[in-house]
Amino acid sequence: MDLNIKTTENNHLEIGGLDAVKIAEEHGTPSYVIDENRIRDNYKRFYNAFSKYYPDFKVFYACKANTNIAVLKILEEEGSCIDAVSPGEVYISKKLGFKGDKILFTGNNIKDSELKEVFDAGVILNIDSVSALKRLAEIIDPDGVKISFRVNPMVGAGHHDHCITGGVMSKFGIMDSEAVEVYNLAKELGFNPVGMHSHIGSGILDPEPFKLAIESTMDIAGKVHNETGIEFEFLDFGGGIGIPYTPEEKVLDLDKFAKENMDLFKKKLKEYDMNKPTLYLEPGRYLVGDASVLLVEVNSIKESYRKFIGVDAGFNTLLRPAMYDSYHHIVVANKMNEENAEEVDIAGNVCESGDLFARDRPLPKVEEGDILAILNAGAYSFTMASNYNTRPLPKEILVSGKKSIVVREKQSYDDIFQKQTMPEHLK
Ligand code: LLP
Repeated sequence: MDLNIKTTENNHLEIGGLDAVKIAEEHGTPSYVIDENRIRDNYKRFYNAFSKYYPDFKVFYACKANTNIAVLKILEEEGSCIDAVSPGEVYISKKLGFKGDKILFTGNNIKDSELKEVFDAGVILNIDSVSALKRLAEIIDPDGVKISFRVNPMVGAGHHDHCITGGVMSKFGIMDSEAVEVYNLAKELGFNPVGMHSHIGSGILDPEPFKLAIESTMDIAGKVHNETGIEFEFLDFGGGIGIPYTPEEKVLDLDKFAKENMDLFKKKLKEYDMNKPTLYLEPGRYLVGDASVLLVEVNSIKESYRKFIGVDAGFNTLLRPAMYDSYHHIVVANKMNEENAEEVDIAGNVCESGDLFARDRPLPKVEEGDILAILNAGAYSFTMASNYNTRPLPKEILVSGKKSIVVREKQSYDDIFQKQTMPEHLK
């Protein structure tokens, strides 16, 4: 099994060298618990794999996966750059020390005021449409401004339809057939287009689509290079590398993956007689996904038409199972040595029938008071949480050097309502 699971001597789940049950006792549930070392290890493994075959390489962490400020700072210390998709992500990254040129902004359907805001922040803009290009040219002085374009490589893949971002149904990027025209237009407007970007989707464990995407993006880049004379300073193939969520899924062989893709990349650079641009990749899930768990407590067990294990968090806290039907492995943190004994449904506390973390899940005999750990909760989990049902956002705990540190307090009810204002006539 390739899932990141460790056990203490007393058969409890271990996170970063600490006992998950003790963390739950100390900090309460639900709590997201983040293992600092795992993020650092993931980053190093990823960086080393690609830089070994193509040294001029930069990692742009796709921070939409997890914007906890400790997580961002850890990755900044490791040397990461940032893939940002909103002015908010640019704001927090800059505040934490990422310099403007270490942030690539890949927004889509961005309005003028936001374009201006991110431009003023000094980040590199990765433009998603002709509309954005033309509007940008009107609101700033384009003279010599370095930009990049997101292209649709007409290859898409992902763990769910919602997460496929290439191909004819995708709203992202400019068409391959219009690329030359768009780069020429950018030059005419005065910009200095220096980059090309593509991203085919998220949660992909199959290496094949990535190869197709690199091939296709390189063909577009080669054509643009040949027909416009642009020498690319960077080429960016996005993120999307998956992690195992089920016990059956295997972790991607990163060294083999990097070698094959870098061979292809170098072959294409030669084929189109291009200089050596910097290679950018934008992993999100790969860096942070398996570094966190969500700890929840079993508060009620119902023997109805089915057996429901009720826990103290719901899809407001971790949306992926309800939104994408995603599998998250779940363990009983205080019974790690016990054999599976029954198949149960694990239900959250939100008032909707779809609020289930799992159906027919084999687990040891579960009792009220047990602590469940929902694994792989580091990516697209807290960042997609909400206040639905007026439930406060939970705590986040960082495990570092055998200490558990609160890195986000649980919201209060007043936090939830603080930006609302009562109209005069109702006071
Ligand atoms: N670059 C761009 C331009 C992206 O849009 C994304 C993800 C990434 C990089 C990082 O992808 P990753 O390496 O994390 O797969 N909420 C969904 C995932 C949506 C991903 C959106 N874009 C989920 O929970 O699975």
